[in-house]
Amino acid sequence: MSEPKPIHRHDYRPPAYRVTDVELTFELDPAATQVKASLQLERHPQSGDDAPLELDGEQLTLKHIAIDGQSLANDEYALSDTGLTVYNPPRQFRLDTVVEIAPSENTALEGLYLSNGMYCTQCEAEGFRRITYYPDRPDVMATFATTVIGDRASLPVLLSNGNPLERGELPGGRHFVTWRDPFPKPSYLFALVAGDLQKVEDRFVTMSGREVTLQLWVEEENLGKTEHAMASLKRAMQWDEETYGREYDLDLFMIVAVNDFNMGAMENKGLNIFNSAAVLTHPHTATDAAFQRVEGIVAHEYFHNWSGNRVTCRDWFQLSLKEGFTVFRDQCFSADVNSAPVKRIEDVAFFRTAQFAEDAGPTAHPVRPDHYIEIGNFYTLTIYEKGAEVVRMLSNLVGWEAFRRGSDLYFERFDGQAVTIEDFVDCMAEASGQDLSQFMLWYSQAGTPEIDAYGEYDYANAEYHLTLRQRTPATPGQPEKQPLHIPVRLGLVGTKTGRDLALTLEGESLGSDGVIHLREAEQTFVFTDVPEAPVPSLLRGFSAPVQLRFPYGREDLAFLLANDSDGFNRWDAGQRLAMLALDDLIAAHRNGVEKVMDTRVVEAFRALLERGSDDKAVLAEMLTLPSEAYIAEQQPLVDVEAIHAARDFVKQSLAATLREDFLRVYEENVSEAPYAPEPDQIARRSLKNVALSYLMAIEDEQGIDIARRQFEADHNMTDVRHALTLLTHSSRDDLAAPALRAFGEKWAHDTLVMDQWFAIQVTRPQPDALDRVKHLMAHPAFSLKNPNKVRALIGTFANQNRINFHRADGEGYRLLADVVIELNRLNPEIAARLVTPLTRWQRFDESRQELMKGELERIRAEKLSPNVYEVIEKALA
Ligand code: TRP
Ligand code: ZN
Repeated sequence: MSEPKPIHRHDYRPPAYRVTDVELTFELDPAATQVKASLQLERHPQSGDDAPLELDGEQLTLKHIAIDGQSLANDEYALSDTGLTVYNPPRQFRLDTVVEIAPSENTALEGLYLSNGMYCTQCEAEGFRRITYYPDRPDVMATFATTVIGDRASLPVLLSNGNPLERGELPGGRHFVTWRDPFPKPSYLFALVAGDLQKVEDRFVTMSGREVTLQLWVEEENLGKTEHAMASLKRAMQWDEETYGREYDLDLFMIVAVNDFNMGAMENKGLNIFNSAAVLTHPHTATDAAFQRVEGIVAHEYFHNWSGNRVTCRDWFQLSLKEGFTVFRDQCFSADVNSAPVKRIEDVAFFRTAQFAEDAGPTAHPVRPDHYIEIGNFYTLTIYEKGAEVVRMLSNLVGWEAFRRGSDLYFERFDGQAVTIEDFVDCMAEASGQDLSQFMLWYSQAGTPEIDAYGEYDYANAEYHLTLRQRTPATPGQPEKQPLHIPVRLGLVGTKTGRDLALTLEGESLGSDGVIHLREAEQTFVFTDVPEAPVPSLLRGFSAPVQLRFPYGREDLAFLLANDSDGFNRWDAGQRLAMLALDDLIAAHRNGVEKVMDTRVVEAFRALLERGSDDKAVLAEMLTLPSEAYIAEQQPLVDVEAIHAARDFVKQSLAATLREDFLRVYEENVSEAPYAPEPDQIARRSLKNVALSYLMAIEDEQGIDIARRQFEADHNMTDVRHALTLLTHSSRDDLAAPALRAFGEKWAHDTLVMDQWFAIQVTRPQPDALDRVKHLMAHPAFSLKNPNKVRALIGTFANQNRINFHRADGEGYRLLADVVIELNRLNPEIAARLVTPLTRWQRFDESRQELMKGELERIRAEKLSPNVYEVIEKALA
């Protein structure tokens, strides 16, 4: 393949021709599906009469092409590997094409492919061009009528977007269904599904009184796993009506579960297609985390019907317009229907680990990128999660009411259009009357801003002086940065009372929990009438996606952990306190000095355990140490072994000293109640299981006994999986082997549970982990062609088993590169994602750097897909 060329945002031009209506007919066949397309086209008023018609098309075999019924001569059009050009078309015309495609050969899972004998499509971002010749860009919106023809016996169910119009029998044991979607849409929202599926049906009455039929389509064996997704869908529909005043617009909403899928799910109009892992649940097969993930993803895809489908993106540089906004919407939904502080803690813990790492690495890019080679590489934590943080900041800056007015304005003004991020922010500015021009830098500047904060209490004048200095580090292509508009929510906690003090800034009262606006590189905020020395509680609720440093002493942090009125910052104080202790222990390990546990951390944990909490889920989070990945993110240079040893040491020290408390907390939170994925039960289970993790860290007989009993009781997957993980990760093979065997045999028939079985084994800290990965790659339940399997086995190993992936001999790196090379041919989108850990080589010692770069070079020597090529070039630049 020749060197792929980047596409630049500033080169955007409107399409020369627009498509108004599309008629598609599919004659399904594994190796030779025929796709007939009839497009109604119109030249853009601003294009010249000599403008050629450019259509995208990849891996298509053209069988026929005609304009207004007239077949084209060879010199009237040209074909290339990436598309078709028609010379001198009329101003307005019908284009008919027939192409042949081979779904059974499609291992990339983009376009039309086969999964378990079932036909399905994935068109975002550029998959439609693998189905037919088309202007495959989001600013071309047309109405679609789709006829699906297939074998009646093997494909009894034939689905597409919109409403079914007509169905009937055809010769040769075939049948057909014709669907029509009345809403104009871009090609990336097209969907087709055909297979032997069963449905679960329900109803939802919208706020205007319309009845919508809800269908969940699954393979027969999964009929018992649909209840939670259906309930989640109804909750999401109601929430969007109550919160945004938006109701569903078609009479039918369908969700289909498929096993082979590159991402979580896809918001195709009226026909969402889901990775089965993102929709199927059962108390015996899915953990609490999986139940909550399903709820969030079902909501996310449903919410796209407005934030994405009715109003879509002008071009793919605007991807965060729909994704950032929709993630923000699903986060708010999940917070509303579960424990809000825990949702925030989980999201931020993940964000600060994974998105911060992305923003500090060679693939760092702004929330709105300026160029890309392969858009499939830009479905990133920055576009999704940082994009959501930016929308969250906007909503806090303008206030919820103005934000809601701004969103109404956005949906009304741009309904049925493909628009830009400016269009969205302009609506917010208009609705609030605020100037958001400096705020726009959040969309164009990459990198995590760093804030250094200093505070001083002036006793004589009863003032507190808070100085904030911001700096955004250089990122690839962006050496210089400008100061951002950063909202910092804060409180000043009185050291005598432990209460939030009233905030007065420049004569203005901010209440006891206020927001200050950092806009300059450095600013000092003087709070007056501060009656006692405070400890500042900064960046409450993670009010901006920044790294904030403040020279807290350990007493300050213990104080905030006990007293802060903001639940999120209470948790964060605990994390900061643990980090200080971990830093010392990492240094001790490196210097070969004996490790000594900081008693202040022990006492802080003891206090937490003794005091308990109204929100047990928050308590569980507070008792959880920062992950190795997060600790690594906070170090200037990652010392894999020292981090692992230090964290283990803290865990074991806490467990040894507070053993009785952990035992008590475990016992207090055991419950025999039938499983329900509801917040109170989830909270108890997570608290109990955190306690059990500590008990198992010292592997005492009582802890082992509890873990074994919890595993054998087989009450629900959350408890079983946690116990199995602890047994498998213990040093005792006599505990690990029989439990793994029993679990593997019991669930051999359930592909989603087997994914968990893979993940549990390859996160083992024992040195045999890498050999296990290799061994399990040969297991009959594993397949490189299934993205869930690849993620469960290889992705989990490379991302979550740091001590073994980063083995000093480089064997972990070699294994990952081998898989990436193979996947580069099979599934470029997945290959390009999987390689990520190797791209972070700059963070490690010299010897590991050389090993990682060596593997990247080895990949580079292959004939690469544009996806892998782009990532490798950035990583080695
Ligand atoms: N738009 C989908 C979402 O909600 C993302 C997605 C699903 C996707 N499948 C994909 C993106 C395949 C790229 C390729 O978030
Ligand atoms: Zn999305």
